[in-house]
Amino acid sequence: MSNPYQPIKAEIKKVIVETPQIKTFVLEPEKGLPFLSGQFMQVTVPGVGECPFTPSSDPKNSETIEFTVMKTGQATGAMHELKPGEMVGLRGPFGRPYPLPDFHGKDIYIIGGGVGIAPLRALLLALFHELDQLNKIELRLGARSPDDLPFKKEMADWGKREKTSLVLTVDRGSESWTGKVGVVTGIMQPGDVKPDLAVAIVCGPPVMMKFATKKLLDLGIGDKNIYLSMEKNMSCGIGKCFHCNLGSHLCCKDGPVFTWEQVKEIPDPW
Ligand SMILES: Cc1cc2nc3c(=O)[nH]c(=O)nc-3n(C[C@H](O)[C@H](O)[C@H](O)COP(=O)(O)OP(=O)(O)OC[C@H]3O[C@@H](n4cnc5c(N)ncnc54)[C@H](O)[C@@H]3O)c2cc1C
Ligand code: FES
Repeated sequence: MSNPYQPIKAEIKKVIVETPQIKTFVLEPEKGLPFLSGQFMQVTVPGVGECPFTPSSDPKNSETIEFTVMKTGQATGAMHELKPGEMVGLRGPFGRPYPLPDFHGKDIYIIGGGVGIAPLRALLLALFHELDQLNKIELRLGARSPDDLPFKKEMADWGKREKTSLVLTVDRGSESWTGKVGVVTGIMQPGDVKPDLAVAIVCGPPVMMKFATKKLLDLGIGDKNIYLSMEKNMSCGIGKCFHCNLGSHLCCKDGPVFTWEQVKEIPDPW
């Protein structure tokens, strides 16, 4: 049996600057690392430490794997300094993915903010392979400013896909910004999806997740049909160290994808 603490090597093939704080790292692992959207991996930045990240790339792409990383502190700051040709370590994938087969026949309501759009990109690319099984995809994405939106070039194409519509908002606009201005809950409207036929998926900063969940409940989406990507500090990634507890759950093993029904009794789960 392979050692779950032993990272495998991955070469950085390309670094894409998404925003002043966010970069996408295109990695080529020394062996295939199949994952499902929603699962995470522990990424070792040599000499600095390990961080959990959720891949942002198409899970069907077996040759390279992408992570979209916001610079927030020591390890992510060091990762932002890495260049093509340098190596990182990868452990995983860990945790529960989005249950894609349960999404068939549904209206898919995807709500994302800031770097939270990264894991949602992997989900979206996976859903695009199954569009014929879905009613529709409604994307509602936001960031602090137009400059803070990752995947800007790609996003225009997402909204043009069959059965897919996209609304973007930013907290502060700019002269060239033609989208909406305001928080993401402001672009979630009754009628976007049919509440009894919808699944909603939310990923973003804790405060956004909290208010987006409240809005989804107000729109009539059921507790079981709201999927949240929860982020807790992690260490082992495999359910051994108890660093990542969320009520009686372990975020690394029972999550990071939870339904609102699973976490709603936890005081301030954000
Ligand atoms: C399952 C999961 C998936 C994630 N996916 C992504 C992703 O795709 N892209 C991305 O940019 N970030 C992601 N994160 C958050 C990322 O792991 C943290 O930003 C990173 O670990 C911070 O490390 P640091 O040393 O740079 O920051 P630090 O200096 O340690 O801290 C800076 C900030 O990050 C928070 N933080 C520190 N360690 C963690 C941790 N292990 N988990 C969560 N928050 C932490 C701290 O509370 C603090 O607010 C994910 C976190 C989890 C748990
Ligand atoms: S990270 Fe160790 S138990 Fe979850």
